[in-house]
Amino acid sequence: MANVVVVGAQWGDEGKGKIVDWLSERADVIARFQGGHNAGHTLVIDGEVYKLSLLPSGIVRGGKLSVIGNGVVLDPWHLKDEIAKLQAQGVEISPDNLMIAENTPLILPVHGELDRARENQNSVAKIGTTGRGIGPAYEDKVGRRAIRVADLADRETLEKRVDRLLQHHDTLRRGMALPEVDRAALIAQLEEIAPTVLAYAAPVWKVLSEKRKAGKRILFEGAQGALLDIDFGTYPFVTSSNVIAGQAATGTGVGPGAIDFVLGIVKAYTTRVGEGPFPAELDDADGQRLGERGHEFGTVTGRKRRCGWFDAVLVRQTCATSGVSGIAFTKLDVLDGFEELKICVGYDLDGTRIDHLPTAADHQARCKPIYETMPGWSESTEGARSWADLPAEAIKYVRRVEELIECPVALLSTSPEREDTILVTDPFAD
Ligand code: IMP
Repeated sequence: MANVVVVGAQWGDEGKGKIVDWLSERADVIARFQGGHNAGHTLVIDGEVYKLSLLPSGIVRGGKLSVIGNGVVLDPWHLKDEIAKLQAQGVEISPDNLMIAENTPLILPVHGELDRARENQNSVAKIGTTGRGIGPAYEDKVGRRAIRVADLADRETLEKRVDRLLQHHDTLRRGMALPEVDRAALIAQLEEIAPTVLAYAAPVWKVLSEKRKAGKRILFEGAQGALLDIDFGTYPFVTSSNVIAGQAATGTGVGPGAIDFVLGIVKAYTTRVGEGPFPAELDDADGQRLGERGHEFGTVTGRKRRCGWFDAVLVRQTCATSGVSGIAFTKLDVLDGFEELKICVGYDLDGTRIDHLPTAADHQARCKPIYETMPGWSESTEGARSWADLPAEAIKYVRRVEELIECPVALLSTSPEREDTILVTDPFAD
Protein backbone atom coordinates (compact mmCIF):
# COMPACT_ATOMS: atom_id res chain seq x y z
CA MET A 1 0.00 0.00 0.00
CA ALA A 2 1.21 3.48 -0.78
CA ASN A 3 2.11 5.87 2.03
CA VAL A 4 2.23 9.57 1.27
CA VAL A 5 4.19 12.42 2.83
CA VAL A 6 2.83 15.93 2.41
CA VAL A 7 5.34 18.77 2.83
CA GLY A 8 5.18 22.50 2.22
CA ALA A 9 7.67 23.34 -0.53
CA GLN A 10 8.00 27.08 0.23
CA TRP A 11 7.93 29.00 3.54
CA GLY A 12 4.73 27.40 4.84
CA ASP A 13 1.14 28.55 4.31
CA GLU A 14 0.95 26.87 0.90
CA GLY A 15 -2.56 25.57 1.56
CA LYS A 16 -1.61 22.20 3.06
CA GLY A 17 -4.75 21.98 5.19
CA LYS A 18 -7.13 21.47 2.31
CA ILE A 19 -4.87 19.01 0.49
CA VAL A 20 -4.20 16.98 3.61
CA ASP A 21 -7.91 16.87 4.31
CA TRP A 22 -8.57 15.82 0.73
CA LEU A 23 -6.03 13.00 1.00
CA SER A 24 -6.94 12.01 4.54
CA GLU A 25 -10.30 10.80 3.34
CA ARG A 26 -8.38 8.03 1.55
CA ALA A 27 -5.87 7.34 4.33
CA ASP A 28 -6.29 5.12 7.39
CA VAL A 29 -3.73 6.87 9.56
CA ILE A 30 -2.70 10.54 9.57
CA ALA A 31 0.57 11.33 11.34
CA ARG A 32 2.27 14.60 12.30
CA PHE A 33 6.05 14.23 12.38
CA GLN A 34 7.56 17.64 13.22
CA GLY A 35 6.76 21.12 14.50
CA GLY A 36 4.20 21.86 17.15
CA HIS A 37 1.36 24.30 17.62
CA ASN A 38 3.21 26.88 15.50
CA ALA A 39 1.39 25.38 12.51
CA GLY A 40 -1.96 26.71 11.40
CA HIS A 41 -4.15 24.48 9.26
CA THR A 42 -7.60 25.64 8.30
CA LEU A 43 -10.10 23.08 7.06
CA VAL A 44 -13.46 23.92 5.58
CA ILE A 45 -15.82 20.95 5.58
CA ASP A 46 -19.45 21.44 4.57
CA GLY A 47 -19.16 25.12 5.40
CA GLU A 48 -17.83 24.45 8.94
CA VAL A 49 -14.38 25.93 9.60
CA TYR A 50 -11.94 23.94 11.73
CA LYS A 51 -8.67 25.49 12.87
CA LEU A 52 -5.92 23.08 13.83
CA SER A 53 -2.44 23.82 15.10
CA LEU A 54 -1.24 20.65 16.75
CA LEU A 55 -3.64 17.83 16.00
CA PRO A 56 -3.36 15.99 12.68
CA SER A 57 -5.97 17.13 10.16
CA GLY A 58 -7.42 13.61 10.01
CA ILE A 59 -8.95 14.16 13.44
CA VAL A 60 -11.98 15.90 11.95
CA ARG A 61 -12.88 12.83 9.88
CA GLY A 62 -14.46 9.80 11.51
CA GLY A 63 -12.88 6.36 11.31
CA LYS A 64 -9.25 7.54 11.03
CA LEU A 65 -6.39 7.16 13.44
CA SER A 66 -4.53 10.43 14.08
CA VAL A 67 -1.01 10.20 15.40
CA ILE A 68 1.40 12.72 16.91
CA GLY A 69 4.91 11.42 16.32
CA ASN A 70 8.07 11.86 18.37
CA GLY A 71 9.36 14.51 15.96
CA VAL A 72 6.70 16.92 17.23
CA VAL A 73 7.11 19.14 20.31
CA LEU A 74 3.90 19.07 22.32
CA ASP A 75 2.41 21.73 24.57
CA PRO A 76 0.09 19.72 26.86
CA TRP A 77 -2.08 22.71 27.79
CA HIS A 78 -2.53 23.65 24.17
CA LEU A 79 -3.39 20.01 23.42
CA LYS A 80 -6.13 20.11 26.04
CA ASP A 81 -7.58 23.35 24.67
CA GLU A 82 -7.48 22.25 21.03
CA ILE A 83 -9.19 18.95 21.87
CA ALA A 84 -11.88 20.81 23.86
CA LYS A 85 -12.50 23.32 21.03
CA LEU A 86 -12.89 20.60 18.42
CA GLN A 87 -15.10 18.53 20.69
CA ALA A 88 -17.30 21.60 21.11
CA GLN A 89 -17.64 21.61 17.30
CA GLY A 90 -18.84 18.01 17.45
CA VAL A 91 -15.55 16.26 16.58
CA GLU A 92 -15.09 12.96 18.42
CA ILE A 93 -11.67 12.60 20.02
CA SER A 94 -10.65 9.65 22.18
CA PRO A 95 -7.66 7.33 22.63
CA ASP A 96 -9.27 5.22 19.90
CA ASN A 97 -8.60 7.85 17.24
CA LEU A 98 -5.73 9.89 18.71
CA MET A 99 -2.32 8.59 19.80
CA ILE A 100 0.71 10.52 20.98
CA ALA A 101 4.20 9.02 20.88
CA GLU A 102 5.54 8.36 24.37
CA ASN A 103 8.91 9.79 23.37
CA THR A 104 7.48 13.17 22.32
CA PRO A 105 9.22 16.09 24.09
CA LEU A 106 7.00 18.60 25.87
CA ILE A 107 6.81 22.36 25.44
CA LEU A 108 6.62 23.91 28.90
CA PRO A 109 5.80 27.47 29.99
CA VAL A 110 9.56 28.16 30.33
CA HIS A 111 9.98 27.53 26.61
CA GLY A 112 7.37 30.07 25.57
CA GLU A 113 8.80 32.65 27.99
CA LEU A 114 12.32 32.13 26.69
CA ASP A 115 11.19 32.29 23.06
CA ARG A 116 9.35 35.57 23.62
CA ALA A 117 12.08 37.07 25.81
CA ARG A 118 14.69 36.44 23.11
CA GLU A 119 12.49 37.87 20.41
CA ASN A 120 11.72 40.98 22.44
CA GLN A 121 15.02 41.73 24.11
CA ASN A 122 17.52 40.99 21.46
CA SER A 123 16.50 42.53 18.17
CA VAL A 124 19.82 41.51 16.56
CA ALA A 125 18.82 37.86 16.84
CA LYS A 126 15.14 38.36 16.05
CA ILE A 127 13.75 35.51 13.94
CA GLY A 128 10.10 36.53 13.97
CA THR A 129 9.02 33.28 15.65
CA THR A 130 5.46 32.40 16.54
CA GLY A 131 6.44 32.82 20.21
CA ARG A 132 5.14 29.38 21.08
CA GLY A 133 8.33 27.99 22.59
CA ILE A 134 9.09 25.72 19.64
CA GLY A 135 12.83 26.55 19.35
CA PRO A 136 13.67 26.33 23.07
CA ALA A 137 11.77 22.99 23.34
CA TYR A 138 13.82 21.49 20.49
CA GLU A 139 17.00 22.86 22.07
CA ASP A 140 16.18 20.92 25.22
CA LYS A 141 15.46 17.80 23.19
CA VAL A 142 18.92 17.74 21.60
CA GLY A 143 20.41 18.97 24.88
CA ARG A 144 19.07 15.73 26.41
CA ARG A 145 17.18 17.47 29.16
CA ALA A 146 13.64 17.52 27.73
CA ILE A 147 10.67 16.17 29.63
CA ARG A 148 8.95 13.65 27.42
CA VAL A 149 5.41 12.28 27.50
CA ALA A 150 6.49 9.02 29.19
CA ASP A 151 8.15 10.97 32.03
CA LEU A 152 4.73 12.18 33.17
CA ALA A 153 3.73 8.72 34.37
CA ASP A 154 5.96 8.60 37.42
CA ARG A 155 6.38 11.33 40.06
CA GLU A 156 9.94 10.37 40.99
CA THR A 157 11.13 10.34 37.37
CA LEU A 158 9.33 13.58 36.69
CA GLU A 159 11.08 15.34 39.59
CA LYS A 160 14.48 14.17 38.38
CA ARG A 161 13.71 15.35 34.87
CA VAL A 162 12.52 18.72 36.14
CA ASP A 163 15.72 19.18 38.18
CA ARG A 164 17.89 18.42 35.19
CA LEU A 165 15.91 20.87 33.08
CA LEU A 166 15.89 23.66 35.63
CA GLN A 167 19.61 23.46 36.26
CA HIS A 168 20.00 24.65 32.69
CA HIS A 169 17.07 27.05 32.54
CA ASP A 170 17.67 28.80 35.85
CA THR A 171 21.27 29.52 34.87
CA LEU A 172 20.08 30.92 31.58
CA ARG A 173 17.29 32.93 33.18
CA ARG A 174 19.61 34.51 35.74
CA GLY A 175 21.73 35.76 32.84
CA MET A 176 18.64 37.20 31.16
CA ALA A 177 17.38 38.84 34.36
CA LEU A 178 14.32 36.56 34.42
CA PRO A 179 13.09 35.09 37.73
CA GLU A 180 14.08 31.49 38.45
CA VAL A 181 11.41 28.86 37.78
CA ASP A 182 9.13 27.86 40.65
CA ARG A 183 10.00 24.15 40.79
CA ALA A 184 7.08 23.08 42.98
CA ALA A 185 4.57 24.99 40.85
CA LEU A 186 5.93 23.44 37.63
CA ILE A 187 5.73 19.92 39.05
CA ALA A 188 2.18 20.59 40.27
CA GLN A 189 1.18 21.90 36.83
CA LEU A 190 2.68 18.85 35.15
CA GLU A 191 0.99 16.44 37.55
CA GLU A 192 -2.33 18.12 36.90
CA ILE A 193 -2.05 17.90 33.10
CA ALA A 194 -0.41 14.43 33.04
CA PRO A 195 -3.62 12.33 32.87
CA THR A 196 -4.86 14.31 29.83
CA VAL A 197 -1.68 13.57 27.87
CA LEU A 198 -1.10 10.03 29.16
CA ALA A 199 -4.59 8.98 28.07
CA TYR A 200 -3.36 9.23 24.45
CA ALA A 201 0.25 8.02 24.97
CA ALA A 202 1.29 5.01 22.90
CA PRO A 203 4.39 3.42 21.31
CA VAL A 204 3.62 5.05 17.98
CA TRP A 205 6.48 3.36 16.08
CA LYS A 206 4.91 -0.01 17.01
CA VAL A 207 1.38 1.02 16.13
CA LEU A 208 2.57 2.27 12.73
CA SER A 209 4.54 -0.91 12.12
CA GLU A 210 1.42 -2.98 12.83
CA LYS A 211 -0.72 -0.74 10.62
CA ARG A 212 1.74 -1.17 7.78
CA LYS A 213 1.73 -4.94 8.15
CA ALA A 214 -2.06 -4.81 8.00
CA GLY A 215 -1.82 -2.93 4.68
CA LYS A 216 -3.15 0.39 6.02
CA ARG A 217 -2.41 3.66 4.26
CA ILE A 218 -0.48 6.29 6.17
CA LEU A 219 -0.53 9.99 5.40
CA PHE A 220 2.37 11.89 6.94
CA GLU A 221 1.30 15.47 7.46
CA GLY A 222 4.07 18.05 7.38
CA ALA A 223 3.82 21.51 8.92
CA GLN A 224 5.64 24.73 7.92
CA GLY A 225 7.64 24.57 4.67
CA ALA A 226 10.94 23.22 3.41
CA LEU A 227 12.52 26.69 3.36
CA LEU A 228 12.00 26.81 7.13
CA ASP A 229 13.89 23.52 7.56
CA ILE A 230 16.60 23.72 10.22
CA ASP A 231 19.24 22.33 7.83
CA PHE A 232 18.09 23.30 4.34
CA GLY A 233 16.07 26.44 5.02
CA THR A 234 17.07 30.10 5.13
CA TYR A 235 19.08 29.59 8.34
CA PRO A 236 18.97 31.15 10.90
CA PHE A 237 15.53 32.44 9.85
CA VAL A 238 13.97 29.01 10.09
CA THR A 239 11.98 26.88 12.49
CA SER A 240 13.83 24.46 14.76
CA SER A 241 12.83 21.15 13.21
CA ASN A 242 13.56 19.26 10.03
CA VAL A 243 10.61 20.00 7.81
CA ILE A 244 11.71 18.10 4.70
CA ALA A 245 10.16 14.74 3.83
CA GLY A 246 12.91 12.55 5.29
CA GLN A 247 11.78 13.71 8.71
CA ALA A 248 8.52 11.76 8.29
CA ALA A 249 10.53 8.59 8.94
CA THR A 250 12.57 9.76 11.95
CA GLY A 251 9.71 11.81 13.36
CA THR A 252 7.40 8.80 13.68
CA GLY A 253 9.67 5.75 13.77
CA VAL A 254 9.02 4.14 10.40
CA GLY A 255 11.95 3.36 8.11
CA PRO A 256 12.67 5.47 5.02
CA GLY A 257 11.28 2.64 2.86
CA ALA A 258 7.81 3.38 4.26
CA ILE A 259 7.56 6.48 2.09
CA ASP A 260 6.16 5.85 -1.37
CA PHE A 261 5.12 9.29 -2.59
CA VAL A 262 6.16 12.78 -1.53
CA LEU A 263 3.61 15.45 -2.34
CA GLY A 264 5.06 18.97 -2.23
CA ILE A 265 2.50 21.70 -1.67
CA VAL A 266 3.33 24.72 -3.79
CA LYS A 267 1.47 28.02 -3.93
CA ALA A 268 1.21 29.78 -7.30
CA TYR A 269 3.13 32.74 -5.80
CA THR A 270 5.35 33.10 -2.75
CA THR A 271 4.74 34.24 0.85
CA ARG A 272 6.67 34.23 4.08
CA VAL A 273 6.01 35.35 7.66
CA GLY A 274 8.73 36.49 10.00
CA GLU A 275 12.20 37.78 9.22
CA GLY A 276 14.70 36.55 6.66
CA PRO A 277 15.68 36.69 2.99
CA PHE A 278 12.99 36.59 0.31
CA PRO A 279 14.48 37.36 -3.14
CA ALA A 280 11.21 37.63 -5.08
CA GLU A 281 9.45 39.77 -2.45
CA LEU A 282 7.25 42.57 -3.81
CA ASP A 283 6.97 45.87 -2.05
CA ASP A 284 4.54 47.36 -4.54
CA ALA A 285 0.91 47.27 -5.61
CA ASP A 286 1.30 43.76 -7.08
CA GLY A 287 2.50 42.44 -3.70
CA GLN A 288 -0.36 44.23 -1.98
CA ARG A 289 -2.80 42.68 -4.42
CA LEU A 290 -1.46 39.16 -3.92
CA GLY A 291 -1.82 39.59 -0.15
CA GLU A 292 -5.37 40.88 -0.39
CA ARG A 293 -6.64 38.40 -2.96
CA GLY A 294 -4.86 35.52 -1.21
CA HIS A 295 -6.01 36.53 2.32
CA GLU A 296 -2.41 36.33 3.42
CA PHE A 297 -2.65 36.73 7.18
CA GLY A 298 -1.14 34.20 9.60
CA THR A 299 -3.56 31.63 11.05
CA VAL A 300 -1.59 31.38 14.32
CA THR A 301 -0.32 34.91 14.90
CA GLY A 302 -2.55 37.01 12.61
CA ARG A 303 0.58 38.62 11.13
CA LYS A 304 0.47 39.99 7.59
CA ARG A 305 2.44 37.72 5.27
CA ARG A 306 5.11 39.11 2.95
CA CYS A 307 4.20 38.38 -0.70
CA GLY A 308 6.11 37.93 -3.95
CA TRP A 309 6.13 36.31 -7.38
CA PHE A 310 6.57 32.59 -7.84
CA ASP A 311 10.19 31.62 -7.24
CA ALA A 312 11.00 28.56 -9.35
CA VAL A 313 14.61 28.46 -8.10
CA LEU A 314 13.50 27.88 -4.53
CA VAL A 315 10.88 25.29 -5.39
CA ARG A 316 13.25 23.34 -7.66
CA GLN A 317 15.60 23.22 -4.68
CA THR A 318 12.98 22.10 -2.15
CA CYS A 319 11.63 19.49 -4.56
CA ALA A 320 15.16 18.07 -4.61
CA THR A 321 15.80 18.17 -0.85
CA SER A 322 12.43 16.55 -0.11
CA GLY A 323 12.49 14.14 -3.04
CA VAL A 324 9.12 15.45 -4.19
CA SER A 325 7.31 13.02 -6.51
CA GLY A 326 4.66 15.52 -7.60
CA ILE A 327 3.29 18.85 -6.45
CA ALA A 328 -0.12 20.09 -5.42
CA PHE A 329 -0.33 23.55 -6.98
CA THR A 330 -2.58 25.85 -4.95
CA LYS A 331 -4.23 29.27 -5.11
CA LEU A 332 -3.85 29.71 -8.86
CA ASP A 333 -7.05 31.81 -8.76
CA VAL A 334 -5.21 34.52 -6.78
CA LEU A 335 -3.35 35.29 -10.02
CA ASP A 336 -6.59 35.85 -11.99
CA GLY A 337 -6.74 39.31 -13.56
CA PHE A 338 -3.02 40.14 -13.55
CA GLU A 339 -2.04 41.44 -16.98
CA GLU A 340 1.44 39.98 -16.66
CA LEU A 341 2.97 37.44 -14.31
CA LYS A 342 6.59 37.08 -13.35
CA ILE A 343 8.44 33.94 -12.39
CA CYS A 344 11.84 34.05 -10.74
CA VAL A 345 14.14 31.80 -12.79
CA GLY A 346 17.56 32.61 -11.36
CA TYR A 347 19.43 35.01 -9.09
CA ASP A 348 21.98 37.68 -9.67
CA LEU A 349 24.54 37.45 -6.88
CA ASP A 350 27.02 40.30 -7.13
CA GLY A 351 26.88 40.21 -10.93
CA THR A 352 26.99 36.42 -11.35
CA ARG A 353 23.92 34.44 -12.36
CA ILE A 354 23.22 31.47 -10.09
CA ASP A 355 20.54 28.78 -10.29
CA HIS A 356 20.14 27.90 -6.61
CA LEU A 357 19.79 29.65 -3.26
CA PRO A 358 23.27 29.97 -1.77
CA THR A 359 23.85 28.69 1.76
CA ALA A 360 25.32 31.74 3.53
CA ALA A 361 22.66 34.08 4.93
CA ASP A 362 24.39 37.23 3.65
CA HIS A 363 24.59 35.75 0.15
CA GLN A 364 20.91 34.87 0.31
CA ALA A 365 20.10 38.43 1.33
CA ARG A 366 22.02 39.80 -1.67
CA CYS A 367 20.34 37.57 -4.28
CA LYS A 368 18.42 39.67 -6.80
CA PRO A 369 15.68 37.89 -8.72
CA ILE A 370 15.97 37.33 -12.46
CA TYR A 371 12.46 37.19 -13.87
CA GLU A 372 10.77 35.68 -16.84
CA THR A 373 7.50 37.40 -17.79
CA MET A 374 4.38 35.56 -18.90
CA PRO A 375 1.00 36.84 -20.04
CA GLY A 376 -1.75 36.70 -17.43
CA TRP A 377 -5.45 35.87 -17.95
CA SER A 378 -8.60 37.84 -17.30
CA GLU A 379 -10.99 34.90 -16.76
CA SER A 380 -11.67 33.36 -13.35
CA THR A 381 -10.01 30.06 -12.52
CA GLU A 382 -11.72 29.85 -9.15
CA GLY A 383 -13.52 26.56 -8.66
CA ALA A 384 -12.18 24.97 -11.89
CA ARG A 385 -12.52 21.20 -11.75
CA SER A 386 -10.90 20.20 -15.04
CA TRP A 387 -8.18 21.49 -17.33
CA ALA A 388 -10.92 22.42 -19.82
CA ASP A 389 -12.20 24.98 -17.28
CA LEU A 390 -8.87 26.83 -17.31
CA PRO A 391 -7.86 29.63 -19.68
CA ALA A 392 -5.00 28.72 -22.04
CA GLU A 393 -2.63 31.22 -20.37
CA ALA A 394 -3.24 29.64 -16.96
CA ILE A 395 -2.39 26.20 -18.35
CA LYS A 396 0.77 27.66 -19.93
CA TYR A 397 1.74 29.15 -16.58
CA VAL A 398 1.31 25.79 -14.83
CA ARG A 399 3.25 23.96 -17.54
CA ARG A 400 6.11 26.47 -17.35
CA VAL A 401 6.25 26.05 -13.58
CA GLU A 402 6.49 22.25 -13.98
CA GLU A 403 9.34 22.67 -16.45
CA LEU A 404 11.26 25.09 -14.27
CA ILE A 405 10.92 23.15 -11.01
CA GLU A 406 11.56 19.84 -12.79
CA CYS A 407 8.59 18.21 -11.11
CA PRO A 408 5.07 17.40 -12.36
CA VAL A 409 1.77 18.69 -11.02
CA ALA A 410 -0.16 15.89 -9.33
CA LEU A 411 -3.03 18.04 -8.08
CA LEU A 412 -4.31 21.49 -8.85
CA SER A 413 -6.37 23.26 -6.22
CA THR A 414 -8.59 26.11 -7.38
CA SER A 415 -10.48 27.17 -4.21
CA PRO A 416 -10.61 26.34 -0.49
CA GLU A 417 -13.46 23.90 -1.18
CA ARG A 418 -12.19 20.34 -1.31
CA GLU A 419 -14.11 19.43 -4.48
CA ASP A 420 -12.44 22.26 -6.41
CA THR A 421 -9.42 20.11 -7.20
CA ILE A 422 -8.06 18.77 -10.47
CA LEU A 423 -6.44 15.39 -10.01
CA VAL A 424 -3.62 14.44 -12.38
CA THR A 425 -1.85 11.70 -10.42
CA ASP A 426 -3.28 9.97 -7.37
CA PRO A 427 -0.53 9.98 -4.73
CA PHE A 428 -2.09 6.94 -3.05
CA ALA A 429 -2.14 4.83 -6.23
CA ASP A 430 -0.02 1.71 -5.79
P1 IMP B 1 8.97 29.16 15.21
O1 IMP B 1 8.62 27.92 14.47
O2 IMP B 1 7.84 29.69 16.07
O3 IMP B 1 10.25 29.04 15.98
O4 IMP B 1 9.24 30.32 14.13
C1 IMP B 1 10.36 30.29 13.28
C2 IMP B 1 10.00 30.80 11.88
O5 IMP B 1 9.11 29.89 11.27
C3 IMP B 1 9.29 32.15 11.86
O6 IMP B 1 9.69 32.85 10.69
C4 IMP B 1 7.83 31.77 11.75
O7 IMP B 1 7.06 32.81 11.16
C5 IMP B 1 7.93 30.57 10.84
N1 IMP B 1 6.81 29.63 10.99
C6 IMP B 1 6.58 28.76 12.00
N2 IMP B 1 5.46 28.05 11.77
C7 IMP B 1 4.97 28.48 10.59
C8 IMP B 1 3.83 28.09 9.80
O8 IMP B 1 3.06 27.19 10.14
N3 IMP B 1 3.67 28.77 8.64
C9 IMP B 1 4.54 29.73 8.22
N4 IMP B 1 5.61 30.11 8.91
C10 IMP B 1 5.82 29.50 10.09
